[in-house]
Amino acid sequence: MTETNTISMSESELTEKIQSGELKICVIGIGRIGLPTALSFANSGLDTVGVDINKNLVDMINEKKFPLKDEPGYDVIFDRAISEKKFYATTSLEEAVSKSNVIVLTLPTPMDSNHVPDYTALKSVGKQLHNCISKGVLIIVESTVEPGFIENDFIKIIQGSDNSLQFGSDFSLGVSPETANPGQILVDFERLPRLIAGIDEKTRDLILKIYKHVFTVDLISMPNCKTANAVKLTTNVFRDLNIAFINELSQIFEKAGIDIMTVLDAAKSKYNFQAHYPGPGVGGPCLPVNSYQMINFAKNYSFDSFHLVELGRKINEKMPKHTIDLLEECFNETKKSFSDSTILLLGASYKPDVKDIQLSPIEDIIRILQEKHSKILIYDPYFKNSKIYGIETSNDLVSSLKESDALIVVTAHKEFHDLESSFLKSKMKTPIVIDTRCLIDQYDAKKNGLIYRAIGRGKL
Ligand SMILES: NC(=O)c1ccc[n+]([C@@H]2O[C@H](COP(=O)([O-])OP(=O)(O)OC[C@H]3O[C@@H](n4cnc5c(N)ncnc54)[C@H](O)[C@@H]3O)[C@@H](O)[C@H]2O)c1
Repeated sequence: MTETNTISMSESELTEKIQSGELKICVIGIGRIGLPTALSFANSGLDTVGVDINKNLVDMINEKKFPLKDEPGYDVIFDRAISEKKFYATTSLEEAVSKSNVIVLTLPTPMDSNHVPDYTALKSVGKQLHNCISKGVLIIVESTVEPGFIENDFIKIIQGSDNSLQFGSDFSLGVSPETANPGQILVDFERLPRLIAGIDEKTRDLILKIYKHVFTVDLISMPNCKTANAVKLTTNVFRDLNIAFINELSQIFEKAGIDIMTVLDAAKSKYNFQAHYPGPGVGGPCLPVNSYQMINFAKNYSFDSFHLVELGRKINEKMPKHTIDLLEECFNETKKSFSDSTILLLGASYKPDVKDIQLSPIEDIIRILQEKHSKILIYDPYFKNSKIYGIETSNDLVSSLKESDALIVVTAHKEFHDLESSFLKSKMKTPIVIDTRCLIDQYDAKKNGLIYRAIGRGKL
């Protein structure tokens, strides 16, 4: 093991190393969260290296091509960091880690097909770190993990099964769970307070000092890693559950002829109400996974009456089917069948204005439509000339509309906000529209002769 000893530095030595730019940073996993994080470190004047197993990504970065086109603002920081040689990428973890004092982990933490949290990337990198870290290195986990994972599992991986590395002398460990939103990471990095915790107080204080240099936002000092990780999960499970509540309410409102958007708009006027919106399901790398992490966390503590989060998941996971049920109503009305129809899916991303289909509800919508033998078209401005679940995407909205017997609005991308009912009526083969995001004015839809259904709106 070589010497680096960030953790034995006094506060003044650390300040000096930060200010002189001698502190070397290594960010492992330079995807959606890791790349902006690494660039923030580089932008603060610290030499930063990004490590990733994706060679194409690493090559692209070193060829000065910014990969995150849907993250405004970071393109400029990227160009500057690369041209000033403050940042580069590599696939060689060992080489990057051996030169670094601080290792930041922004590795993926997805779940498997049985909804069990999958910490393979963190565990595998943890084992590699055990073999190659320099003495006194500080490791900070920004990935989202269950409360207790750092203290009960991850620390042991770094220590090694033979306990050959000692926490406190050989390495130190803390967390700063990332809470930024894709598509607006720069904005969020400049406004969202950061949670900071360490395995001990000394580590937490070191992280506070380094992050204070890199970020301008408030830093919230947490008592321990498990509490910081619990905050991150709590905020996202709160959203998943509230969306489930609105999705369930929407289905009653459809029957009762009450417009969910009108209700939410008025409900917002009450100071302690926070609006959440209906949709065809909840996707992305965070919300669904975080709910299952919370469920797994409860199981690990043998808390067997933890039902609400599971129920919320069930409701949200049934929304693709509900979307198709609305379409079936329209088909019954117009005497059309799924197998003779071409259905255009508008938007594929799990959320607006980002190029990301991870766990997007479109996957289940496609599966159900394929079981019914419908022909499927997909138009998404972020996915031109590509394939989504084996279906070639369309490059031209108008020609797709002309072929379509029905349209399902899946994602509320900005490009779709101004869709006019008269335009849809004039272009579509059959003017059936299922509006899962309540984007279209329902009165206008009726006036212009659309056969219109929306999640959370009754038939007019
Ligand atoms: N994307 C979000 O909205 C978001 C928001 C907040 C927090 N998070 C959390 O941040 C973490 C990272 O998420 P992300 O969205 O940036 O994931 P991502 O998939 O965009 O990026 C992860 C990167 O890690 C790389 N990687 C995987 N295994 C590796 C390994 N063994 N060694 C080196 N590199 C490896 C991948 O190639 C990829 O480039 C997750 O824990 C996620 O839950 C994500």
